[in-house]
Amino acid sequence: MRTQVAIIGGGPSGLLLSQLLHVRGIDSVVLERKTRDYVLSRIRAGVMERGLYELMKEAGCGARMEREGMPHDGTLLSYGDEMFRVNFKDLTGHPVMVYGQTEVTRDLYDAREAADGKVEFNAEDVEICDADTDSPYVTYRVGSESRRIDCDFIAGCDGFHGVSRKTIPADVLKEYERVYPFGWLGVLSETPPVNHELIYANSPRGFALCSMRNANLSRYYIQCPTTDKVENWSDEDFWAELKRRIPADQAENLVTGPSIEKSIAPLRSYVAEPMRWGRLFLCGDAAHIVPPTGAKGLNTAASDVHYLYNGLRQFYEEGDAEGIDRYSERALSRVWKVERFSWWFSGLMHRYPDQTDFDLKMQIAELEFLRSNTDAQRAMATNYVGLPY
Ligand code: FAD
Ligand code: PHB
Repeated sequence: MRTQVAIIGGGPSGLLLSQLLHVRGIDSVVLERKTRDYVLSRIRAGVMERGLYELMKEAGCGARMEREGMPHDGTLLSYGDEMFRVNFKDLTGHPVMVYGQTEVTRDLYDAREAADGKVEFNAEDVEICDADTDSPYVTYRVGSESRRIDCDFIAGCDGFHGVSRKTIPADVLKEYERVYPFGWLGVLSETPPVNHELIYANSPRGFALCSMRNANLSRYYIQCPTTDKVENWSDEDFWAELKRRIPADQAENLVTGPSIEKSIAPLRSYVAEPMRWGRLFLCGDAAHIVPPTGAKGLNTAASDVHYLYNGLRQFYEEGDAEGIDRYSERALSRVWKVERFSWWFSGLMHRYPDQTDFDLKMQIAELEFLRSNTDAQRAMATNYVGLPY
């Protein structure tokens, strides 16, 4: 088989890239290790920046998001029983959109299917070959059949545990990492959200987050030790702990119910540089990870897609390699700013095992400064709604 762009990974970044290229008449094939249902069953991001929203529209996939997504003009931050609001709309002119990653991915799969786009599911043993030459190719296996795709470029959109990043020689790739000493235990429940906006809570018992997917689907998280197991947490224990971490008046309003999903995610900051090796380009979680505080993972995958898509478009439409040559530099410049924001927001809201009384005072002082200072709020809001591309 031959295509222009071979895309490894059928998560949101691979699908979005494929669909955007299709709109411009550029051919691609997506190789996904799992099935469509498996990809759609992963409960992940919930908050979309305007950049992603605009890209979905450009890809011809914005209609349902526009109908069903919930624009949020601000967010709530609490510490103990104190709570204040940061008004994104007033401070930056922009809201964010609450619309699940599952729905984004479903819309993209539907669009690829409608356009007869080629997505190979159950693609195993994917290998990237000759990426540092002018004729790269990818080999893989479906069942017992071995296959090969020749291509102009390869987009590594295969997440943190994929093969793409590992293909780049160790003496080329530089990795930067910080692993946090806690995780997030998340629960999805068919209950109305406790508040119409998100609540990020700093409590003496650890961080908590109240989020949502729609008017009758709530997503809640609590900070937990990295050693914790989902089996250790009954629904009852989870709700009781969440209530202890959010302001009392919110806890009183919390509607609880059976969980329909429960999982633990570790927290990590990670960047791999460069994001290009020859004709291979890394995109999204394949190149970088942020802790979820601030909802930046999917949104940063989308900004990579923006730079890569425009670079490829420039190459195919104008015969100009400037965009792909500067892809890594452009993407990383934004990635590092997002890493900083996610690291800062995580530090502000969590309890750390080695935190001293002085450190705790610093957290509260910073929250009170943020509460009372419009400039500090604007800096936070500017990052939260999404830095410009
Ligand atoms: P992935 O979604 O990981 O997709 C990669 C795909 O590649 C997968 O489908 C995988 O099966 C496939 N694959 C892997 N290896 C191979 C291989 N060898 N061959 C073929 N295919 C392969 N981000 C936000 O912006 N906002 C949020 O609110 C938010 N909340 C989050 C909450 C949680 C609990 C978690 C865990 C993450 C959250 N994120 C959030 C992060 C967000 O989910 C990720 O950044 C996003 O999924 C990255 O998309 P991706 O397409 O780059 O990678
Ligand atoms: C979510 O709804 O899953 C979510 C929202 C905001 C975050 C992280 C996750 O910062």
